Amino acid sequence: MDSGLRGKSALITGGSSGIGRGIAEVLAAEGVNLALASRGVDHAVVEDLKALGGDVHSIQADVSREDDVKRMVAEAAERLNGLDYFVNNAARAHHQPLTQIDAETFRSVIDTNLAACVWGCREAARHLISQKKPGAIVVVGSTSMYTPGPAEAVYRISKVGLKSLVETMAVELAPHGIRVNLLVPGHYRTRLTAGIPADIEAKLRQEIPLRRFGQPLDCGHAAAFLLSPILARYVTGAELVVDGGLSLRPIYFGDDEQLKALNEMQGD
Ligand SMILES: NC(=O)c1ccc[n+]([C@@H]2O[C@H](COP(=O)([O-])OP(=O)(O)OC[C@H]3O[C@@H](n4cnc5c(N)ncnc54)[C@H](OP(=O)(O)O)[C@@H]3O)[C@@H](O)[C@H]2O)c1
Repeated sequence: MDSGLRGKSALITGGSSGIGRGIAEVLAAEGVNLALASRGVDHAVVEDLKALGGDVHSIQADVSREDDVKRMVAEAAERLNGLDYFVNNAARAHHQPLTQIDAETFRSVIDTNLAACVWGCREAARHLISQKKPGAIVVVGSTSMYTPGPAEAVYRISKVGLKSLVETMAVELAPHGIRVNLLVPGHYRTRLTAGIPADIEAKLRQEIPLRRFGQPLDCGHAAAFLLSPILARYVTGAELVVDGGLSLRPIYFGDDEQLKALNEMQGD
């Protein structure tokens, strides 16, 4: 099936690790030329992605700084000779219980996860509108939006904020032919979640109806769908949850065999 992505160009923040890398891999395989932005530049990742066929650039930028974000988008558009897509994926998580939230951490999480998305989408939209070409934006949220976890207040505020931003942008940018959607991952084993102890992870896995953690390519395929001018041409302001069912949080106390037996036909 033709996705219509071949030959297009995309800027992905945090595109050289975890979920961002999964998105980069799928887009590169679809023939999209890429700019990956992060604070650290990983040349090995750039080379791996180039081997998939497209043009790949890395841009050093701290997205929590407005000036860096302006430069990042301008540099991406210049190096890629135009820009069709922006994927706002970079984020940080720093868990603090309510009574221990400090201003510096609060500002850093909000600046990296929420303000950065405002600056990045503003700059990308300015660029896309001036090109007078259709385009698309994908913003990476989190299922923490649906389920309040202890010590996650600031991270969660930042992700809930992204949902409002996506909805407003979808309305404002629709007349310019720019679609904006939210991609919502559940639990993925990445640098962001590396500190979670094994016993907690095991319990978490049992909360996922598909009984496995997400793999970055799962989000990669979903992002490719949302960006595709063919497959998702009528999709804007939407939320695509890629969590194996985690956010359903089913109320069921049996084991998998009992669950399976509920729908097994007599005589099977
Ligand atoms: N992993 C999960 O279970 C999960 C669940 C729900 C949502 N998410 C979301 O998925 C997205 C990707 O996270 P991940 O799990 O793939 O984590 P990750 O592997 O830690 O990736 C985060 C990326 O963001 C970049 N980044 C962080 N701060 C930055 C800054 N100030 N400026 C520029 N780049 C910055 C990092 O690169 P540098 O450190 O080199 O800058 C890194 O490439 C995030 O939006 C996260 O909230 C993840």
